[in-house]
Amino acid sequence: MTSASIRRKPDWLLSRHLPWTDRTGRLICLKLGVFLALLAPALLLLFDSAADALGARPWEAATHRAGWWSVTFLMLSLAVTPVRRILRWGELMTVRRMIGVTVFLAAMLHLTLYAGMQSWNLPKLASEIALRIYLTIGFVALLGLGALAATSTDGMVRRLGGRRWRILHQLVYPIALLALVHFFLQSKNDVTEPILFAGFFAWLMGYRLWHWRFGPPAPSGLAILALAAAISTAAGEIACLSLKYPVTPWVMLKAHFDFGAGLRPAWWVVLVGSALAVAAEIRRPKARLDLEPALPPDSRP
Ligand code: HEM
Repeated sequence: MTSASIRRKPDWLLSRHLPWTDRTGRLICLKLGVFLALLAPALLLLFDSAADALGARPWEAATHRAGWWSVTFLMLSLAVTPVRRILRWGELMTVRRMIGVTVFLAAMLHLTLYAGMQSWNLPKLASEIALRIYLTIGFVALLGLGALAATSTDGMVRRLGGRRWRILHQLVYPIALLALVHFFLQSKNDVTEPILFAGFFAWLMGYRLWHWRFGPPAPSGLAILALAAAISTAAGEIACLSLKYPVTPWVMLKAHFDFGAGLRPAWWVVLVGSALAVAAEIRRPKARLDLEPALPPDSRP
């Protein structure tokens, strides 16, 4: 036996396929941490359900929770690339697939819990999805997530080829938009959370657009992006609320500066966006000042 064959772990070894290991079977702490963080909401839901702590309508509460986590994971999966670039943290890419697949699993759990809410009456479930526009939109988003999850294995990347795989996976942007529309339409009176997620989505898309058009944004560019995303979030919220309630846009604008009732979504968007701009400045490679100035050859000692 050669020393190479002794050192290499066999293909069938389970440790190479665990979510928290790399292809050689080595434990990656970041992957383990993210795996546990992604699992935590499901465990908490299980725990709350066992402890009868989901309120008077447990199926409905559980459906809402799973939906909320689906869209949260979806936004996190979209944040991986910008955050990796801004923090110059290459290792973050190793968890992108895991987060992406979790979005699909969480959305499937969301649908399963909704089926439970309908007492497992599948014909009724199907007719609800077909007849209620916000459910139809959620269903289309779920189908899209299924296609992305199914093509996320190494084998499928090889089979499709890098270019076609990348084009297919750009579907994640319209899917995220559909998920946000579904989120908006299902929230009856309070649109604060969908607006907040839409604000983060605006930043994420703005970042991609900037990167594609001008290259990586400098910290000042990120600050402009944070401000632009926050202004569009505030404008979106004001437009939405003045359509829903008989209040003038001016009153809604003033409400943005009344901090007694908590921060409006636009403030969260500008805070997170600015924090990333500051992080980019801190992580920016500095020009080396400690280099000796080049001396003319004749003046060297
Ligand atoms: C067949 C697909 C889907 C069905 C049948 C479905 C069904 C539902 C239902 C019944 C609600 C609660 C509405 C209410 O109480 O009036 C809901 C809320 C929600 N759904 Fe879906 N959904 C689907 C897909 C998705 C997908 C793909 C996502 C995101 C990736 C998603 C995210 C959400 C969110 C964020 C909420 C609001 C949760 C909250 O209240 O915090 N849904 N969905």
